[in-house]
Amino acid sequence: DVIDTRSLSSQGILTYDPGFMSTASCSSNITYIDGDAGLLYYRGYPIEQLAEHSDFLEVAYLLIHGDLPNAEQKEKFVNTVTRHTLLHDLMSNFYRGFRRDAHPMAVMVGTVGAMSAFYRDSSDSFDAKQRQVAAYRLLAKVPTIAAWSYKYNVGLPFMYPQNRFNYAENFLYMMFATPAEDYEPNPILARALDRIFVLHADHEQNASSSTVRVVGSSGANPFACVAAGIASLWGPLHGGANEATLTMLEEIGDASRIGEYIRRAKDKTDSFRLMGFGHRVYKNMDPRAAIMRQTCHEVLNELGLHDDPLFKLALELEKIALEDDYFVEKKLYPNVDFYSGIVMRAMGIPNSMFTAIFALARTAGWVAQWMEMVSSVEQRIARPRQLYTGPVRRDFVPMEQRT
Ligand code: ACO
Repeated sequence: DVIDTRSLSSQGILTYDPGFMSTASCSSNITYIDGDAGLLYYRGYPIEQLAEHSDFLEVAYLLIHGDLPNAEQKEKFVNTVTRHTLLHDLMSNFYRGFRRDAHPMAVMVGTVGAMSAFYRDSSDSFDAKQRQVAAYRLLAKVPTIAAWSYKYNVGLPFMYPQNRFNYAENFLYMMFATPAEDYEPNPILARALDRIFVLHADHEQNASSSTVRVVGSSGANPFACVAAGIASLWGPLHGGANEATLTMLEEIGDASRIGEYIRRAKDKTDSFRLMGFGHRVYKNMDPRAAIMRQTCHEVLNELGLHDDPLFKLALELEKIALEDDYFVEKKLYPNVDFYSGIVMRAMGIPNSMFTAIFALARTAGWVAQWMEMVSSVEQRIARPRQLYTGPVRRDFVPMEQRT
């Protein structure tokens, strides 16, 4: 009477697609990617045009509302976000529970999740008005949460956001100002940081955005959904790649050692991968990488760092990898995170904050996708199946008969 539960027929008809290589998990109006042609559009607008002419909050509005705002809509949106940047005072207690050397992403997973305990009046995902308030709160408060996790690391007092600054300037201010020393953000650096935010704002169904959708599909509150997205982003194969790239470049140290690292990346018995190379969807140059490469030049010139040895090393590594048969055959090109770390490092941002900044920017996309999903009539709870490969049915064995 033993039923072999491992047979396909006993489990019904299923698609088996580990890593979702060829599964569209939803329909979406937000972001379009053509990985072969190297195209990325937010709501139909090419990323190159948005990076050149727009700014992060306008892009966040576009992602969330579907169209670019007119002047009045933009002013209202920017004012609303700006007025929500403060954290509930009791939230600062959370930081004190962490070790001083806690990774900022660990602190962010905890504190963004904890927002659901403080902002319960915007936690009902089935209420359209509450969803709007949650969206503003997340966009406004995540930069404060991220900057404070850095301040906590370095043992300096938390700096409150200032309404006179724009979004990127405010973040730099909260990172680098102290009560003893005022700080005026450099507009060129603030613009470069804003561009990093724009480039990272959304990227359709990547691991973290899919996570937000899966968590949100159960009706979980938006703060819990975004905390789950942050956890997913943290991994070195996803958002953690910008930190891992810089660590790798520092480890390589000198152009004479590039060959050794390329050999390791190609060696299938070695788990090492060249960080900042390759992408699930782009099998051509990542369009964000091209923009980031240019931004890298601008920032290093502004700071008089054009001879920065790490940037030179990165360019050399890029050249050698792009000419290597293995990388050519597997279509492995530098992705956006290959350059963003160099830009942030030049601004004085420590490696451990790189992924936190990615999370801050991706919050716009997570919120937009969560809102799209929750308000869609097609939406059902995400509940994938599996192919069971364990033992067939067997009878319980009393302890005294077990060998
Ligand atoms: N270095 C060396 N080999 C690589 C690399 C790399 N960076 N990336 C992929 N490969 C190889 C794989 O070993 C595999 O080889 P095989 O066919 O001999 O088995 C082949 O290329 C395909 O790789 P997969 O892992 O199957 O591709 P997948 O689409 O699953 O992975 C990923 C994409 C995770 C981005 C991968 O390229 C990688 O690990 N890159 C390094 C980490 C990184 O930069 N991540 C950032 C992604 S972009 C972002 O999140 C903003």
